[in-house]
Amino acid sequence: MRTISIINQKGGCGKTTVAINLTAALSELAKRVLLVDLDPQAHATIGLNINYDDSEYTTYDLLKNPRVKLADAVVQVDDDLFLVPSSPVLSAVEHELAGVHGRELKLLSKISRHPEEYDYIIIDSPPNIGLLTFNALMATKEVLIPVDPSYFSLNGLQKLKETLTLLEKETKHRVKVNVLLNNLEKRTAFVRDVVGEVDRLCNAEVLDTTISHSVRFKEAALRGIPIFKMSKVDRLQREFLSLAKEIDSRASVIDTEGIDDWMVRLHGPRRIKEGVLFVLDAPNARSVYLTGEFNNWVRDGIRMEKDENDGIWKVVLDLEPGEYEYRFIVDGVWIKDPSNTDSVLNEFGQENSLLIV
Ligand SMILES: Nc1ncnc2c1ncn2[C@@H]1O[C@H](COP(=O)(O)OP(=O)(O)OP(=O)(O)O)[C@@H](O)[C@H]1O
Ligand SMILES: [Mg+2]
Repeated sequence: MRTISIINQKGGCGKTTVAINLTAALSELAKRVLLVDLDPQAHATIGLNINYDDSEYTTYDLLKNPRVKLADAVVQVDDDLFLVPSSPVLSAVEHELAGVHGRELKLLSKISRHPEEYDYIIIDSPPNIGLLTFNALMATKEVLIPVDPSYFSLNGLQKLKETLTLLEKETKHRVKVNVLLNNLEKRTAFVRDVVGEVDRLCNAEVLDTTISHSVRFKEAALRGIPIFKMSKVDRLQREFLSLAKEIDSRASVIDTEGIDDWMVRLHGPRRIKEGVLFVLDAPNARSVYLTGEFNNWVRDGIRMEKDENDGIWKVVLDLEPGEYEYRFIVDGVWIKDPSNTDSVLNEFGQENSLLIV
């Protein structure tokens, strides 16, 4: 599975238009695709004619409620096209999660539990660099940045690249950048200058495919359909198919070195062949035990072993599907799993980590 976040803090550069039509183009190529609407404006939701008031769960619930799984929030839009709708309440999440540990990893933790279900997950993000965009960035190894030809776009692109560099420095999370020139009118001198400047700034990251300017995109958005459901838009369909193929063919050149280590450390328990692997990064601890609902909270129940190669404590449990609260006991001290962003309050007012198998 590949996850691609569509980001640009500049408003109106075409993020949602590209998100909807790239998702549709990939599904035309027989890929199973999920579009996650991570913008409280809910334009991708509206643009696919889904009414968020009819949805039991939206991206808000996905980020806020550890018990809501990705599958709970998915709506089927077409044969191979699925959506997690957004709604305006998502704008409250930034405030509600302020100060919460791991708040920028909420989406990643939901997505990474179902890697086999989709060929692609496309994330549409809002026009600012806040908690939602950070969730979109942390959930992915690659971003697609639509750029429309304007002075502000160039300025925004430069800022965005600085933000990505900073992110890598602070979290070691590196994303591959693809830049897409969108909304190109016929090649005036100004457009040529902007394209030249984008090339200079981003060089090999600029995709060969470009998307033309056309009023039919507005019409498609109004009708709540991708351009593949419209007639007499052959050129636009060709451009988006070409974008989908170009992105699909670039799969092999994505450099993921180092990222998987990072995922293990920040990811809490994950499924491996033998069962569910629990990890704790505590190189100086003398003993670590795992306890939880799976062993009736017996203290000293499940002893973890330190892997001398990386100093990480590990144990693998064979667990039936279900929900489990658990904690670690490190040198006698009970702690929640610092690598798991999902937790619930227990009867003592402390946090138990929550695992959904
Ligand atoms: N290639 C294009 N040709 C013509 N109009 C376009 C094109 N791409 C986008 N638009 C129009 O520009 C407007 C903004 O596009 P869109 O909503 O996709 O941008 P956005 O980056 O998602 O905006 P926001 O930052 O608010 O989320 C829409 O009315 C859309 O129809
Ligand atoms: Mg948008």
